[in-house]
Amino acid sequence: MARILTGIQSTGTPHLGNLLGAIRPAIDLANDAANDSFLFIADLHSLTQVKNGTELRQNTYAVAAAWLAFGLDTSRTAFYRQSDVPEVTELAWYLNCFFPYQRLTLAHSFKDKAERLEDVNGGLFSYPMLMAADILLYDADFVPVGKDQLQHLEMTRDVAARFNHRMGDTFVVPQEMIRSETMLIPGLDGAKMSKSKANTLNIFDDPSALKKRINKEIITDATPLEDPKDPDNAVVWKLYQSIVGDVQGQHMAEKLSAGGYGWGHAKKELLEAIVDGFAEERDAFNRWMTDLGGLDAELSKGAAQAREVAATVLDRVRTKIGY
Ligand code: TRP
Repeated sequence: MARILTGIQSTGTPHLGNLLGAIRPAIDLANDAANDSFLFIADLHSLTQVKNGTELRQNTYAVAAAWLAFGLDTSRTAFYRQSDVPEVTELAWYLNCFFPYQRLTLAHSFKDKAERLEDVNGGLFSYPMLMAADILLYDADFVPVGKDQLQHLEMTRDVAARFNHRMGDTFVVPQEMIRSETMLIPGLDGAKMSKSKANTLNIFDDPSALKKRINKEIITDATPLEDPKDPDNAVVWKLYQSIVGDVQGQHMAEKLSAGGYGWGHAKKELLEAIVDGFAEERDAFNRWMTDLGGLDAELSKGAAQAREVAATVLDRVRTKIGY
């Protein structure tokens, strides 16, 4: 049985692009009985950017509620908050001491963030070693990540190998599993949906807020109602199709191509597809968000499972170091 582990950024309520592109496939993988799976919300990493306790906590809840609403089975997966396993910060320190400073200066993600962000702190700089600790602390075999995390995974493998070489076999050297971006969800403006572009759709919003956002923000052209429209150039159709699938998506495509069917009609169908198609997930999400105690209980259960493994691995590391 392979151990699969991955970390989730806690940047607030996941949007449609996150849900369809990353969360749903990750849940399928985690719920697969052939895997032993660990999934955590990286709220220590968030501290590099968020300095407000309420926001930090709320972001974690929103992320946890979304994963649970989309069917993550916590009897199969250890689902926890990174900050509930303090062992990880101890391991991060050790790893920092086994990794060349010079290599950290070459991290793309740091360079990129250092250019964009106002608060360029030391945590951002050593981010890759905390991430390596997230992985090595649990003897993970496979780490599903997006392409942008590849360099972090290389650093993880590198620091594990350096430590093993220097101190004797200690860590499992993990393998990355690159998520292929099969589902490219456009944002409301047509560019890739992303939080930083403010073009996202929050499917958990109430119907009136959703309606407003769809009607106001999804770009359309000025083709008159009666004229044929090209679905392949229509954001509203692409979003609709990503939710309902190819077969049902074809119906709207045909109506658009035939003419006599306006953007307003398409937007109305999209709204219905979200409200009806995600009815269960929306209900579950809202139930969790009004039961934060229940969310805490789920995450604590996961943390207890995680800490058991963490304690064993950390013991191994301390012994090797000489403590
Ligand atoms: N850095 C990852 C991201 O931005 C999140 C993350 C933190 C992670 N720790 C991890 C992913 C460990 C995989 C394994 O997406």
